[in-house]
Amino acid sequence: MYIETDRLELKPFRLDYAEAFAKALQYPEIYAYLPEDVPFLKDIEAIIKWFIKRDQDNMETGFTGTNLSIHLKETCEIIGWCGLQPFEPEPCKTEIFYGLTPVYWNKGLITEAASAVLDYGFSGVHMEEIVAGVKPQNIASIRVLEKIGMRYVKTLRHVPNGSEFYANEWVYAFTKDRYFGTKP
Ligand SMILES: CC(C)(COP(=O)(O)OP(=O)(O)OC[C@H]1O[C@@H](n2cnc3c(N)ncnc32)[C@H](O)[C@@H]1OP(=O)(O)O)[C@@H](O)C(=O)NCCC(=O)NCCS
Repeated sequence: MYIETDRLELKPFRLDYAEAFAKALQYPEIYAYLPEDVPFLKDIEAIIKWFIKRDQDNMETGFTGTNLSIHLKETCEIIGWCGLQPFEPEPCKTEIFYGLTPVYWNKGLITEAASAVLDYGFSGVHMEEIVAGVKPQNIASIRVLEKIGMRYVKTLRHVPNGSEFYANEWVYAFTKDRYFGTKP
């Protein structure tokens, strides 16, 4: 699994990315709307192992989601993450997820990465629908979702036990039919 865009390379995670990924993730502002907090290096190693296992499990179950690290071509730096995963409050749906080290915010980089991952989902592995959950206060992420063509569909009023973090998130969606212009 490898995706290349004008400025970025998206690659499956490897354990030896841990130190570089930890550097990218060290900024508290990343976690304003995420359930996690600034991780320690040992946490990063565990997260990467979990990403790798999730990719292996996906292969076994036939789920075509993916967990990718984002590399800036110009410097080879690891600057973020993006992928497709089961949407925790509604696990039969697939969610696009992403994040970027703040040094590079507002340069259109996640729009570039997420557009390519959406295209992988629809053109590459023929998903029917891709969704995203976002906190209404996360204006930058909402803007990204709008720029890549996703539309607001609902607010999550009821969430399963254990998924309380997602309560009242806005859900955005894109269907395959609308992506390919066969339905409005
Ligand atoms: C959300 C996030 C990934 C966006 O990454 P990014 O590379 O900066 O996104 P882009 O540059 O592609 O687009 C950001 C857009 O939001 C806009 N924006 C950012 N902050 C804004 C604000 N406070 N008010 C209005 N617009 C804002 C930018 O102007 C830009 O829109 P534009 O291209 O129309 O000018 C980044 O902020 C991040 O990593 N946040 C922490 C992790 C996170 O919240 N992930 C998403 C969970 S749902």
